Amino acid sequence: MRSQFLTCLLALAHSAAAQLPPTVDSNARVTKLATLPRESYTVDQPFTEGATRDPATGDVYFVDQNSNKILKWTVATNQLSVFMHPAGYSNGMTFDKAGKLIACADERNQLWEISTNVTKSIPYPQPLNPNVGDRGRSGNIVLPEYSVIMDGKYNGKQLGGPNDVWAMPDNSLYFTDPFWSRKWWANGRRAEQEVNTVYRLSPDRKTLTRALPNFLTSDGRAGSPNGIIGSPDGKTLYVAAFQGPGNGGGETYAYDVGANGVLSNRRRWAQFGSDGMTMDNQGNMYMCAPVSQSGITVVSIATGQKVGFIPVPEQPANVAFGGVDQSTLYITAKTGFYSIPTKVKGAHLVK
Ligand SMILES: *[C@@H]1O[C@H](CO)[C@@H](O)[C@H](O)[C@H]1NC(C)=O
Repeated sequence: MRSQFLTCLLALAHSAAAQLPPTVDSNARVTKLATLPRESYTVDQPFTEGATRDPATGDVYFVDQNSNKILKWTVATNQLSVFMHPAGYSNGMTFDKAGKLIACADERNQLWEISTNVTKSIPYPQPLNPNVGDRGRSGNIVLPEYSVIMDGKYNGKQLGGPNDVWAMPDNSLYFTDPFWSRKWWANGRRAEQEVNTVYRLSPDRKTLTRALPNFLTSDGRAGSPNGIIGSPDGKTLYVAAFQGPGNGGGETYAYDVGANGVLSNRRRWAQFGSDGMTMDNQGNMYMCAPVSQSGITVVSIATGQKVGFIPVPEQPANVAFGGVDQSTLYITAKTGFYSIPTKVKGAHLVK
């Protein structure tokens, strides 16, 4: 009796989990666009992350952090190319309103501002740890023109490792700073900041402040901030706490953004966390939540409740709307890059 009851409950939970959201046609399917190659110098399989779209073209940029590359999916030709390598072991990325690509360059805990259409010949950027991963080389290399807009330190101490970043309408940037040990760092590096929290870089990109003094989950544990996204009007910021050993429970919080970027009125908006997140223009959030089945959890922004689930063959780490009309959802998941057509558009349309 008891086991039948449980089986029935599990089946119900499974069918609910597999329910596509109303924003995706019931016949639509996730398509694999590319499988990233494993490069000889890497210590791990490819791990795709950081998907974001160029508002001017709808092209999608993402990273394979393990191979130290930023990749570009050109929507006009459906082609994948290497946009930047080396790329500071970039992780989360976003576009700012000037059309610059902003990247969490995790190798030295920095934020970079990268041009999509100007290149420059520079001495090959030498890796921090030449014994692991990208070994570096001599001579010059032509790379997209970039500048370091945040030098990797707060209060004179190294940050944990900027993970995901969001550009606000006022040109300020918020980023999450958890501490996940990386093989391309110096061996034995320890956390120098006493908290893993959220930071803000001022609109002139000169002043770095802690946007939150700490990042505690509802049960009072130190959370690990991960995915971050703002509403199009810049008035609400969403920050996900990623679930994992020693990282507290998975939850996502909403904050009001006030004068000078002060965050207030924290509330638990969703009862699960996420890696990267994106929004559509019909009031839904697309979250890479660590749930039992791999895929995208779609949540009503008004209620924080789940409205559907998009199964993906590998566990997604990030999502972005892109394409010429910005109605295709692009998904980075482990070694793969995927897409699915939707009936909506991305929320953050610029043109
Ligand atoms: C480069 O891209 C930026 C941002 O989209 C744009 O404002 C600028 O006009 C472009 N420059 C060239 C030379 O195409």
